[in-house]
Amino acid sequence: MRIFRFESIDSTSDYLKNKKDIENYDLAIAEIQTKGRGRRGNNWFSSKGMALFSFALKAEKNISIEEYSKLPLVTGISVLRGIRRIEELDLKFKWTNDIYLDDKKLSGILVEKVDDFFIIGIGINVNNKELGLAEETAISLTNKTKNSYIIEDIIFTVIDEFKKYYKRFCDGEWEYILDEINSKNYLKGKAVNIASINGTAAGIVNEIAQDGRLEVEVSGIKQLFNIGEVHISRMKNETE
Ligand code: BTN
Repeated sequence: MRIFRFESIDSTSDYLKNKKDIENYDLAIAEIQTKGRGRRGNNWFSSKGMALFSFALKAEKNISIEEYSKLPLVTGISVLRGIRRIEELDLKFKWTNDIYLDDKKLSGILVEKVDDFFIIGIGINVNNKELGLAEETAISLTNKTKNSYIIEDIIFTVIDEFKKYYKRFCDGEWEYILDEINSKNYLKGKAVNIASINGTAAGIVNEIAQDGRLEVEVSGIKQLFNIGEVHISRMKNETE
């Protein structure tokens, strides 16, 4: 595993996306990002004290692109488990790829594909007390525990967990991984608004389904929503 460390860079994900000689598990770590990116074209506030990193994953030829749509979920449970190895907190997984603590966002994940590689970018609020504009909706580990952490310990623990979960995923253990993800399902039982290409609907969230879609009961009818196609927000208190 090659490690590329930066005091400051535009985005660790962009660094790997533009890298010509990319190798499996190349890892880029930054103390600060000047153009950190989140999902749906959002900015990702990136300050000192956060774990800001991206790594490359070579797509296996025998795994279909549909199967790979579960990768954000596999990454999510790995981040959750990795952080929990450092600090035993009641973390939740918010479909499709956020980690929540005390109803606030602790970590965000951005999975992108470039040629034969997935670039998995992860931001975790660790030692930072500042949370940018997300003050109301985000939390850092230090804000919760008052402890201070060695950021690279967290990064390497998360990657270690990812390697374990990814191996299980490739070995056909998705069902068990999904059970674990569902046991940490932040949205379960919550009333949400779902914005998709077909408009907006309000419903109550059930489980994450076998194929990685989210089951939501809308007007008494169970509907499945695709990863990447919907924007979920809590009814009263918008969380994204
Ligand atoms: C989200 O919640 O919208 C996803 C946030 C992902 C942020 C990380 S920080 C490291 C990597 N580099 C980026 O520019 N984005 C990801």
